[in-house]
Amino acid sequence: MTNSNKPRLRFFETAANQQHIPAADKYLYKIDQPNHKLVVIGTGTIGQEHMRVAATLGRASVHGIYDTSAQSLDAAERGFKKYSQDSLIRYTDIESACSDSAADAIFICTPNYSHFDVLQVALKSGKPIFLEKPMATALVDAAQIVEQARNYSAFIQIGLQYRYKAQYIEAFHEALSRKSLGNIKTISMSEYRPPFLDKVGQWNKFNEYSGGTLVEKCCHYFDLINLLAESSPQRVYASGGQAVNFLDFEKDGRKSDIDDHGFVTIDYANGVRASFTLNMFCPDFYEELVVTGDAGRFVAIEKVAIHQQKAVEASVSVCLGEQGASRTTDLSYPAVIEQSGHHGASYYEHNAFLDQLEGKPVDSATPEQGLWAMIVASAAQQSIVSGLPVDIKEFITQHDLAAALNE
Ligand SMILES: NC(=O)c1ccc[n+]([C@@H]2O[C@H](COP(=O)([O-])OP(=O)(O)OC[C@H]3O[C@@H](n4cnc5c(N)ncnc54)[C@H](O)[C@@H]3O)[C@@H](O)[C@H]2O)c1
Repeated sequence: MTNSNKPRLRFFETAANQQHIPAADKYLYKIDQPNHKLVVIGTGTIGQEHMRVAATLGRASVHGIYDTSAQSLDAAERGFKKYSQDSLIRYTDIESACSDSAADAIFICTPNYSHFDVLQVALKSGKPIFLEKPMATALVDAAQIVEQARNYSAFIQIGLQYRYKAQYIEAFHEALSRKSLGNIKTISMSEYRPPFLDKVGQWNKFNEYSGGTLVEKCCHYFDLINLLAESSPQRVYASGGQAVNFLDFEKDGRKSDIDDHGFVTIDYANGVRASFTLNMFCPDFYEELVVTGDAGRFVAIEKVAIHQQKAVEASVSVCLGEQGASRTTDLSYPAVIEQSGHHGASYYEHNAFLDQLEGKPVDSATPEQGLWAMIVASAAQQSIVSGLPVDIKEFITQHDLAAALNE
């Protein structure tokens, strides 16, 4: 067995009855030293998740961290010490975080409104960059990032990691590789969940700082739908609003203005029709994808009963009628991977980032795919305000996005 195909048996590595094995006798339990060093900028909820995921994966170590809030840095350091004995540099400014010659890559995990400015500093490093979703709050900035990435000496990967959730890997496999559903005609995706959580500075309660709910959160789903449709969106219509959440929320005399529910329809150039449903005033999390072709239907469900503190439940069904065998399957990644964040999706996203860093081919999100997800989300937000459908060709012209899209 070589290192690359040696099975990782974490259960035994950490089992009490295996701790007597001397280091010199470790073969199955031998853990390779990390090959890469990461800097994490923004150590809030997702920054801390990336630190944990990096340690769980073990291919890269977290070399240093930077945040404008001492409280976030303290919390990140406290958390890190629980699972790692590595030392951690605490940078005092963004320039030194981005220019440390000992680091190999930069993770930008700051709020949406800061992505563009933080990225401009990170780009000076010439290092590979991971940029959290949504890549920006404004389309003009997202388009500029796409063009900057095209001319950059390294690469920029966008944090659209839902494509690595177990049930969506299966969706791509059935619908696109195996083609068991035949020609895809409709895609419907739904998310039911509790309200946006508290954030540092409460940036996610305001359209200005988050880019709007459909951009901030639902870019994940528009990315998935775009990938499954394998075509470009032509027309978007949406209806939505703020019905329940944060109606009485104010910060610095300003009222929260974010939507908490909505319905979006998307027509694609190849005739695929898609819909997206959002409801953010539910007690727990429920995500559903239904893809239907002329030969069958695929359903993916993910449930998290947070109040019952149950593990995530994910399943997929393939229904082929008389065309073949139908089945329903429960899915899970190993518990340690699922628990590292976003049910394992962030772990496989890191793996892809490090593969890309090592020059291997990957299927992680590119800046251009990040921009397409933002185009659908932003067009849907425009449609909610105007009450009218949005023609995407016109929208691209109005926002001067053609060059970024190579159109
Ligand atoms: N991919 C995903 O599934 C996922 C999940 C959650 C959040 N996110 C994204 O990650 C980003 C951060 O979200 P979060 O939930 O961690 O927010 P958060 O508020 O919990 O943390 C953000 C951190 O960034 C710090 N910060 C703000 N401006 C900064 C700057 N200029 N330089 C350095 N640090 C700065 C804040 O002090 C805070 O500690 C957002 O873009 C969000 O959309 C992605």
